[in-house]
This record gives sequence, C-alpha cells and structure tokens, in this order.
Amino acid sequence: MGEHGDRYVIDGGQPLRGEVSVSGSKNAALYTLPAALLTSEPVTLRNVPRIADIGEFADICRAVGSRIEVDGETLRIHTPEITSTTPPAELVSRLRASFLVMGALLGRAGEAECPPPGGDVIGSRPLDVHFVGFKMLGANVERRDSSWYVQADRLRGARIFFDYPSVLGTVNVLLAAVRAEGETTIVNAAPEPEVAMLADMLVSMGARISGQGTSFITVQGVERLGGTDFSVIPDRLEVGTYLLAAVATRGDVRVTNAEPAHLDSLIHKLREMGVEVGLDDGAGGGGVRVCASDGPMQAIQVQAVPYPGFATDLHPPMAAALTQVRGVSLVHERVYDNRTLYVNELRKLGARIITAGDTVLIEGPTDLGGSTVRALDIRAGAATVVAALAARGESTILDIHHLDRGYSDLQGRLRALGASIERR
Ligand code: EPU
Repeated sequence: MGEHGDRYVIDGGQPLRGEVSVSGSKNAALYTLPAALLTSEPVTLRNVPRIADIGEFADICRAVGSRIEVDGETLRIHTPEITSTTPPAELVSRLRASFLVMGALLGRAGEAECPPPGGDVIGSRPLDVHFVGFKMLGANVERRDSSWYVQADRLRGARIFFDYPSVLGTVNVLLAAVRAEGETTIVNAAPEPEVAMLADMLVSMGARISGQGTSFITVQGVERLGGTDFSVIPDRLEVGTYLLAAVATRGDVRVTNAEPAHLDSLIHKLREMGVEVGLDDGAGGGGVRVCASDGPMQAIQVQAVPYPGFATDLHPPMAAALTQVRGVSLVHERVYDNRTLYVNELRKLGARIITAGDTVLIEGPTDLGGSTVRALDIRAGAATVVAALAARGESTILDIHHLDRGYSDLQGRLRALGASIERR
C-alpha cells in the first residue's frame, strides 16, 4: 500500500454487458442501526450491504451497549441497556451518519454527548435543523468544548418546521420523536425513500408514524418500541452508478434487485438522452435495463436537487456519462456547494468539462484516455470509475477507500459485466 492505499487499475474502452444485482442501500442501512438502539429487544436486519460505513456505525453501537453479530448480509443487534451516552470521538468523526446516535440516545436514554460528525467534504453541511428539531421536542442543546450535548427529562411532541428538508436531520428528529409524549409533525421533512424506509422500520417496532415519503411526517409518541426483523431497500445510487457506467461505455446492462419507483428522475433523464430503458419486476426483484449500444445520444440539462428530483449523489457519475453524448450538457448542483471537485479528475482522462459556479458544463462526445486519478469522495470516486471504464487504455484510481464506503464488491460486480478492473 502506498500513500494513497489500495488502487483500482481499469483497462477501459469496452462496452459493459450483462446482468448485475445491487446491495441494500448504504444510507438506509445506516439509519437502521440507530433505530435498533431505541429498543431493548433484539433486532434482525437483512440485505445490509457489506461496506466500510456499516462496520464503523456498528462500532459506535457497540460502544454504547449493543451486541452485534454479522452473518453475510444479515446483522443482528441487541441493546439490552445503554451503557454509555458519549460515543468515542474517534468513531464518530469517521462518518457523517454517526450523528444519528444523538437522536437515538436522546430518545432511549434522555441524553447524548457527541463531537461534530465526519463525512465527505462536499459542502458546508450544517446541522442546524437537527438542533432546531431537538429543541422543539423540549431538549436542551449545549455546546461543550469540542462536542454537542443534548438532554431532556421528558421529550414532548411538537410541530417542527425545517428550513431545509435535510435527510439526516429528518431521521435524527424522527428517532427522538417516536417515544416522545404526544404528537410531532415535521413540516418540510425529507421525502427520500431511505427516510420513508426508516419510518417503516420504526412502525414495525411499534411506532405510530404517517406521512413518510412526503414533506409532512406525523408521529404519535409511544411508550415503548419492540424488536423487529426488517429488510433494507435496494441502493438506488448503486443502481444508478451501474446504469451510468453502461451508458458511458455504450453497453447493455440489466440491474436486478432494483426498485424502479425510486429511480424516476434518472430513468427520465436517460430516455431524454436517447438511451433505451426497460423496466420489469421479474426474477431477482425489480430490474432496470439500459441499452446504449446503438443510436446517437444527445446532451441534456440536469438539476441536482432533493428527492424526487435528480439525486445529487448521481451528479458526478452522470457528468462522467455525459462526456459520451453529443452536444453540451449542463448539470446544475443545488444541494451541495462543493460537489464539483471531481471535474479536475475527469479532465485528466480527457473530458471537456468546466465549472461555472455551481454549474458544470460537459461537451461531448469525447474519446477519453487512461490516466491516474483520485477518488475524492464516494460519488466523485464513482465518476472516475465510470469515466475510466469508458476511457481507452489503462487508468489507475487512487484513494479507493472512499469507494469501499459505499460500493460493496465493486470489482466483482463490474467484472460480471465484462470490465477489466483489478484491485492492487
Ligand atoms: N443543510 C442545511 N441545514 C442542515 C442540514 C443540511 O442547510 O441543518 C443543507 C446542507 O448544507 C446541504 C443540504 O442541506 O447543502 C443537504 O444536506 P442533508 O442534510 O440533506 O444531507 P445529509 O443528510 O447530511 C444525506 C446522505 C448523503 C446525501 C444527502 C442528500 C447519508 C449518510 N448521507 O446526507 O449521502 O448526499 O443526504 O441526499 O444518508 C453519499 O451517500 O455519498 C452521501 C453523501
């Protein structure tokens, strides 16, 4: 291992072809762990992706009292008692989602102390809506040295307004509200499918929640939550990444274990580009097939916004695919203020791509050529993989620990589609 750790070496320029299945959603799976902290009964979680971030969150749960067993994609977690309300800083600083331990501990134990979370450097990523929510539920929120402290003797339901429909903010406040006294409504809640799934999991544990999947989520507090056996939804971002790799290489790929209903924005945009997209609910769960092997593909304009708009996490791999279509495409990033660092990496592969503020302009089609590039975060990494697969010759991708955080068995899955990719 050198300075940049493991690397992928990709020999690109071949169309991807075949069928691949995806894992359970990284982000949704991350929300199930703090949810499991809300009960003293055992919880079984299925379809949990084998990625680094889940291992990190599991360590945080162990540090506050959970016993966890992992058996392939099944994870059993049991937290008879909360043994600490101050998870270790070095664990929390490793990932953004770790901050959900605040809402969970506040809901179960009435207090939590936690340093600011880690996570990708893709923008300023404030936490104000989390704190507004906790305060509205009656908690005291204090800044202590280098950490945040929240405490409440009794949480009380409230009508809460979010300035921004923050995904983790909505989850954190839901975790705290399910056992609060009375009714809570989150107005301008995040409608993302992963948040809706988390609410469904809480309902399976005995919570009373309605409106999940919309901008108004209502919770009737309950005294206690029980165990559950719950399966994580498919990862729509992983599905999108493989579909975009198929487009960039002008291939023909079917992704199984997908949920097409979560992919409207991507499917719509691919069809607008002139890519053939087929949907089915056949064997292996729902399938999405893209065929980009013949016919011209044209430039499009994309706005990366909260769900059900086009996902910001698919912006970088979409930009990589757009290097292969005719004309000037535009991607306007409206979620993060620092998402476009991947642009320089794509340029090293020969992409004609520039940024103007939060807008990225891509001119194509371009013959990309192999080079050495860095995975700057999970999705910037996905963009370099998609572009390297389309580029003629050998590319080396450095810092792939970022990809390990979100893509389980990326090498095996791409090889199943005929790609030449090797981890070194
Ligand atoms: N924001 C605020 N105030 C807040 C919180 C957020 O203004 O209190 C703003 C941020 O500045 C940012 C925007 O809201 O511009 C998006 O932040 P959000 O809170 O919705 O994102 P997140 O909950 O921190 C999750 C995912 C991200 C994904 C975003 C948006 C997890 C662990 N992370 O982050 O996933 O990009 O939602 O969909 O679920 C990834 O998977 O690669 C990833 C980064």
